[in-house]
Amino acid sequence: MVQYSTALALLGLHIGAAVAARQPYDVRKIIEAFRNPHDDLTILCAHRGLRWNGTAENSVDAYWRAAEAGIECIETDMRLSKDHFIPMIHDGGLGRTTDVGEQAGKEAYNPYTGQGYNPNVEDLNYEGYIENLHLRDEMGRVRVEKVPTLPEMVQAIHEEGMNVVLELDFKDQAAWYKTPEDFEALRWVQDAFASGVQLAFIPVYDPAMEDEMDTLASLKAFSQTNYTISAEIELRSTNGVLQDLLDYVKSTQSTNVKFRTAGTFYAPGDIFAPGTVDFDRANYTFPDDEHQSNSVYTFQDNKAPRLMDSLLPDGASVDGHDYRSDFNWIIKQGYDWVISDTPDLWAQRLEKQGKRNITWMLADGSKVINETLSGGWYKRHELM
Ligand SMILES: *[C@@H]1O[C@H](CO)[C@@H](O)[C@H](O)[C@H]1NC(C)=O
Ligand SMILES: *[C@@H]1O[C@H](CO)[C@@H](O)[C@H](O)[C@H]1NC(C)=O
Ligand SMILES: *[C@@H]1O[C@H](CO)[C@@H](O)[C@H](O)[C@H]1NC(C)=O
Ligand SMILES: *[C@@H]1O[C@H](CO)[C@@H](O)[C@H](O)[C@H]1NC(C)=O
Ligand SMILES: *[C@@H]1O[C@H](CO)[C@@H](O)[C@H](O)[C@H]1NC(C)=O
Repeated sequence: MVQYSTALALLGLHIGAAVAARQPYDVRKIIEAFRNPHDDLTILCAHRGLRWNGTAENSVDAYWRAAEAGIECIETDMRLSKDHFIPMIHDGGLGRTTDVGEQAGKEAYNPYTGQGYNPNVEDLNYEGYIENLHLRDEMGRVRVEKVPTLPEMVQAIHEEGMNVVLELDFKDQAAWYKTPEDFEALRWVQDAFASGVQLAFIPVYDPAMEDEMDTLASLKAFSQTNYTISAEIELRSTNGVLQDLLDYVKSTQSTNVKFRTAGTFYAPGDIFAPGTVDFDRANYTFPDDEHQSNSVYTFQDNKAPRLMDSLLPDGASVDGHDYRSDFNWIIKQGYDWVISDTPDLWAQRLEKQGKRNITWMLADGSKVINETLSGGWYKRHELM
């Protein structure tokens, strides 16, 4: 799915020094680190928050857990409801992530079969309907927490004093902003310029776009603007489609560019612990080894989960494999930031490779919080 992300900087007002491994980040420095590469730092974005172990994706709780784990950035999804609210929902439908089926008295949606009630966010009002739905965690269990809107998320970030950058993924924007002119013509972008707000935009390039636009020309144009801080380049294999974009960003020959960084999505699959889910798996057989053929399964709205490799756009990979579930491959390509479902594990692995010098992002005069002394609740358990 093609996505466009905009990073919004949100500054937490106070820092809880006694809290686990949350770090005293300065969000302006995080943005600077998005623009300028550092050999000793890979920036991490928690994919929909830290959503494993009973925490629903795109929930306030998942954000809080990401901040507690010392993660500086959260990638999150927004959609537009019929009454123009902005609920934080990833899929087009509400079935996988909420109890809409149960509340409507219909067959609960089953993401393992693609069957059941899965009405679209855009066809329903937030007020009086979506606002009453509860979130489900990755095991399918219904949680107490309800569907938050973007303003509620921002308020929670402020109140909890989380120092994080949000990468906002506009799921309803069917249009690709092929050029800066397309992007700058948007009303909200014009509003931002007029009111002096410094935007932080990250265009997303996917191999599927190659047929419809000149991706390299687009990247070149965006890289000259004052608001583009990096590019998300979803290369699927070395020398696959979009390799030219990654090379352009990384080349010291490229002139007048405002950033020299690129990010990607680490894609380990959506199904962490198949034995433990509450969803009815009738008529859907999940292989014992979800990393079958060196690939992984991903949820698809209204379909059973698919192998990532089966979803590759034509010619996107040189050998038919999507390499984005391979930590070492991602590091080797020279990516500067990564969106990951397991950013806490990434942080540990990066540290061992000398690629997690978070000092670049800390507020002036601040020190890395000593985990031994702060000893908060955050602890990683066995789930990968
Ligand atoms: C950034 O560029 C836009 C469009 O060219 C312009 O309107 C805006 O004033 C610039 N903002 C800053 C802070 O330079
Ligand atoms: C599972 O398959 C059986 C037999 O083909 C069918 O009768 C049943 O409706 C299916 N159930 C689901 C949930 O698809
Ligand atoms: C980490 O980065 C800072 C700059 O932010 C630098 O001064 C420091 O030397 C780096 N630490 C190590 C261990 O390289
Ligand atoms: C953290 O604090 C403990 C306890 O005082 C100390 O032993 C340890 O060396 C500290 N770690 C760092 C990285 O400063
Ligand atoms: C989830 O977290 C709880 C408490 O933090 C822990 O006891 C449990 O082992 C974890 N379960 C998994 C599957 O990670």
